[in-house]
Amino acid sequence: MISLETSRLILRSPKVSDAKDVFEYCRDTEVGPSAGWSPHKNIKETIEIIKKFKREQDVLLVYHKEDKKVIGSVGFHIRNVEDYQRKTREIGYVLNREYWGEGLMTEAVKELITFCFESLKLEMLVCSHFDFNERSRRVILKCGFQYSLTYERETSFGLRNTLLYKLSSIDYFKEKINL
Ligand SMILES: CC(C)(COP(=O)(O)OP(=O)(O)OC[C@H]1O[C@@H](n2cnc3c(N)ncnc32)[C@H](O)[C@@H]1OP(=O)(O)O)[C@@H](O)C(=O)NCCC(=O)NCCS
Repeated sequence: MISLETSRLILRSPKVSDAKDVFEYCRDTEVGPSAGWSPHKNIKETIEIIKKFKREQDVLLVYHKEDKKVIGSVGFHIRNVEDYQRKTREIGYVLNREYWGEGLMTEAVKELITFCFESLKLEMLVCSHFDFNERSRRVILKCGFQYSLTYERETSFGLRNTLLYKLSSIDYFKEKINL
């Protein structure tokens, strides 16, 4: 069981008993589609996704300490064999709309980056956003990623123009020394 802590949040492994909180943001039409997936139609769908997260061990839920509630998730996914061989993962995230604009996802992603480079010893992290997703672009830039390229990504809604960013462990540790 992974558990990481920031000043306002705990990032921890998912449990089926989190389904109610997770469904609350997964059913929101403003959340999933911005990340490329359809809103959940019912809580059964959410339970199946939580079971998948538990099997694949590549998603942590974002728990709000003060409100005592799961308000989002952060993922660190292996997308293909090359990712595995090159110690690369793709970071993804979503947050309950009630909590947008408080800097919470930036806080969560920075902690996940530290975990990926310092505990998992990964060499590269990538992160992407659709061209219209200005909020996500800000999170990515505030977390130190550098723009790499734009491509068309296959999603549940067809092809979407997607901007890809990278952060290497070398750049992460260089920045840490400079702080
Ligand atoms: C993307 C998301 C996780 C951001 O979470 P968050 O906690 O609100 O992010 P932060 O508060 O750390 O940063 C949001 C940034 O967007 C900016 N922002 C807020 N409202 C905005 C708007 N309407 N238009 C553009 N930028 C906006 C904020 O000013 C902030 O940037 P700043 O700190 O430079 O001022 C959240 O909006 C979300 O869950 N969206 C739906 C799912 C999604 O898009 N996931 C990412 C897929 S790539």
